[in-house]
Amino acid sequence: MTRRAYRAAVLHVRDDPSRAPEAVAWHPDGLLVVEDGHVAACGDHAEIAPGLGADVTVEALPGRLICPGFVDAHVHFPQVDVIGAWGGQLLDWLETHTFPAEAAFADPAHARAMAPLFLDQLLAHGTTSALAFCTVHRTSADALFAAALDRNMRLIAGKVLMDRNAPAGLLDTPETGRADTEGLIREWRGRGRLGYAVTPRFAVTSSAAQLAAAGDLVAAHPDVLLHTHMSENRAEVAEVARAFPEAADYLDVYDRFGLVGPRSVFAHCVHGGDRALRRMAEAGSAVAFCPSSNLMLGSGLFPLKRACGCGVRTALATDVGGGATFSMLSTIGEAYRTGQLQGETLDPLHGFYLATLAGARALRIDHRVGDFEPGKEADFVVLDLAATPLLARRTAAARTAGELLFLLAILADQRAIERTCLMGKTAYARGGH
Ligand code: GUN
Ligand code: ZN
Repeated sequence: MTRRAYRAAVLHVRDDPSRAPEAVAWHPDGLLVVEDGHVAACGDHAEIAPGLGADVTVEALPGRLICPGFVDAHVHFPQVDVIGAWGGQLLDWLETHTFPAEAAFADPAHARAMAPLFLDQLLAHGTTSALAFCTVHRTSADALFAAALDRNMRLIAGKVLMDRNAPAGLLDTPETGRADTEGLIREWRGRGRLGYAVTPRFAVTSSAAQLAAAGDLVAAHPDVLLHTHMSENRAEVAEVARAFPEAADYLDVYDRFGLVGPRSVFAHCVHGGDRALRRMAEAGSAVAFCPSSNLMLGSGLFPLKRACGCGVRTALATDVGGGATFSMLSTIGEAYRTGQLQGETLDPLHGFYLATLAGARALRIDHRVGDFEPGKEADFVVLDLAATPLLARRTAAARTAGELLFLLAILADQRAIERTCLMGKTAYARGGH
């Protein structure tokens, strides 16, 4: 048995603080105790320290904030080289920037070189779990799963299914997509902390036959997720309505193929409408809200308040490379700006919930990660509140956990991530120490 304790300010939320304010656990002088990779205790230092055995090492981290590792509920592994590409809205952007970048993954060596780089970017930004798109190539998923297993990351991913409306080198067929997915599920599901998501790209690039195959796959494997895009951009929505005239709306296209359920995650839903929001709430599906991407691609403003009002489980996501940052902290800031443009003021602690426990809930891994409940896996981030002179000055003036978090969301960059730990082990350290 190895036990180690960390003394710092500690913040986590055990439920949605907009409905349960008492779920915010804020310990300005806190202690996180980790035993064999799991949380043994978390609370005020003054309460927990006296009960610790003399053999337990306590690491003092003054001026630091410890919080659960962030959960990115929607991100694209092959789009590292798309971040910051100039110009275009979704459908043009896919043609011009994204499909060429993804075509490079036909070479398994490229995928193997990019996978460690991608995961190390997540960790360097404090993200310890993610739901990731790969490319259409089976080997892209092999490369990502192997690298995540190597790092012991709790990662869920899937090979993309796409059989139309894309360059020939990026197309599969309903049959090959199904066989490759079956093979990947057999090979990777449940190894280490890995999970699988059946991943049709969106209804523009999958035929009815392929969406039906995706429905068969999720029915045959009740423990996998369904991960796709929906109602992100007006031209995309119009194209889907043209291709599937029998459907009531975009969500209904997926519903008709058995793809709307409690393990489904739909990225975007900017233009979904209330019927779709209510149906997702009823089915227990989750929405990945991607504010950085929605602004960069000019997609629109996600109606967070309306979605929450309809009872839809919502989580926050970067959507790299549509999104311009790997930072979930900055993404909270983008969510705040998105709210401001709609006359809605996002509470920073609600934003923090969306970036941690709500993400774990969307990915159905909240029994393992997302907060510091004893017994959960000890995935956490150490944030340096004085990473820059401006951050030091402003965080010193913060009087509440909400104020502190908001300053981090607005001012902190990668320099504030001092350390990222996976099951208690350092997986990233600033400056390589
Ligand atoms: N819709 C279909 N594919 C994509 C993608 O790669 N990124 C985004 N943001 N939306 C999509
Ligand atoms: Zn996306």
